[in-house]
Amino acid sequence: MSDRPGLLVHNAAEVVTASGGVRRGADQAEIGIVYGDGAVAAYEGRIVAVGSLEEVERRLGEMGVAAHAVARLDARGGVVTPGLIDPHTHLIFAGTRQAEVELRQRGHGYLDILAAGGGILQTVRETRAAPDEVLLANARRWSAEMLSHGVTTVEVKSGYGLSTDEELRLLRLAGQLAEEGPLDIVPTFLGAHAVAPEFRGRADAAVAYMANVIDEQLPRVAEQGIATSCDVFCERGVFDVEMSRRLLTRAKELGLQARLHADQLNATGGAELAAEIGALSADHLGGISEAGIAALAGAAGSDRPTVATLLPISAFYLDEPHYAPARTMIEAGIPVAVGTDFNPGSSPAPNAELALQFAVHRLRLTASEAIGAMTINAAAALGLEQTHGSLEDGKHADLVLWEADSHTLLPYWLGADLVRTVVKRGHVVYEGRQD
Ligand code: NIG
Ligand code: FE
Repeated sequence: MSDRPGLLVHNAAEVVTASGGVRRGADQAEIGIVYGDGAVAAYEGRIVAVGSLEEVERRLGEMGVAAHAVARLDARGGVVTPGLIDPHTHLIFAGTRQAEVELRQRGHGYLDILAAGGGILQTVRETRAAPDEVLLANARRWSAEMLSHGVTTVEVKSGYGLSTDEELRLLRLAGQLAEEGPLDIVPTFLGAHAVAPEFRGRADAAVAYMANVIDEQLPRVAEQGIATSCDVFCERGVFDVEMSRRLLTRAKELGLQARLHADQLNATGGAELAAEIGALSADHLGGISEAGIAALAGAAGSDRPTVATLLPISAFYLDEPHYAPARTMIEAGIPVAVGTDFNPGSSPAPNAELALQFAVHRLRLTASEAIGAMTINAAAALGLEQTHGSLEDGKHADLVLWEADSHTLLPYWLGADLVRTVVKRGHVVYEGRQD
């Protein structure tokens, strides 16, 4: 890694800037590409110029930056994009759940397995039993994999602890990972991921556990400042809209942003709730109703719209009958983001390139819409659109150099790894194939 304060990326066939803020409607496809001889300069971790090589060199000269202070990185006729942002993952867990694949093949549904004490609760048992070092080693292994697929910022949820101490532990570990770098980590509290084992079997299990989340867990999380948002699995048979509203309203009062697993498998009213409370993001939406689409569309015009964060890999992996109606959402002006949903049950896929490919081939986004969905709109889903997600002066110098001479090839080579180089805050942090 160069320790020079400056970086000049040059010789790009295309620089995808994604500049100009969150994308909605027809703008979702306008990702601000600089074609031919494109260059990007960074200084002390921030973007200082984007444009032709001549323009960018001139800017460095105006800033008085000496040539020896700048590391040069040749994009070799490839595409340069902002670092990808994965706006929805469950990165911190122990154990694996491959046995559920066969169970589902034999007709057991994802929610049935959970109701029987497996699924998420299986991972809760294994996570609780795992020492910090084991959880960290797993998370480091998978975050390194994420980086190798072009991710520079990742949202990380708790949710496999389901008690105050265990949820706090998972969020502390997320904080430790963030300190280790190089990825920026956005921590989310998901104590309301499933009813904790201690509460199961009671007639009022979900209500009683939700009271524990709201009255015991959430205040401690807020007080320690170790999560920036609060999530809930709002789904038939898990937590209903009323309970989810109570949790997210309280979370907002305590200074956390709201986001939710909404209408993942069934139309539960999650999208409507997201719009009503001004959630940063409504996630999954495979079962969203007409009313849900209308509600998100109604909120879409605001400065801080609720982003529809779509997670096509989990719909694929669970063999769901519906993918989220992404085209309808874009036509309705709803900003769309895409993520991996990396987790051991519904998306054991730490691969943002794959998510990009599914966004095109399952959600029917165009390549440019999908790239917007995993850069600036994913940043907006995390509330980071002022600092991350695009190549614009003053923003973090997080970028990816691709082994492809057109952005349209990124979702085209299915299953291929096209990431050549990843730059985080102006420094090379990953090098893949260089041929
Ligand atoms: O986003 N649906 C809820 N949570 C995750 C899956 C978690 C798990 O199965 O462990 C999801 O799909
Ligand atoms: Fe999820």
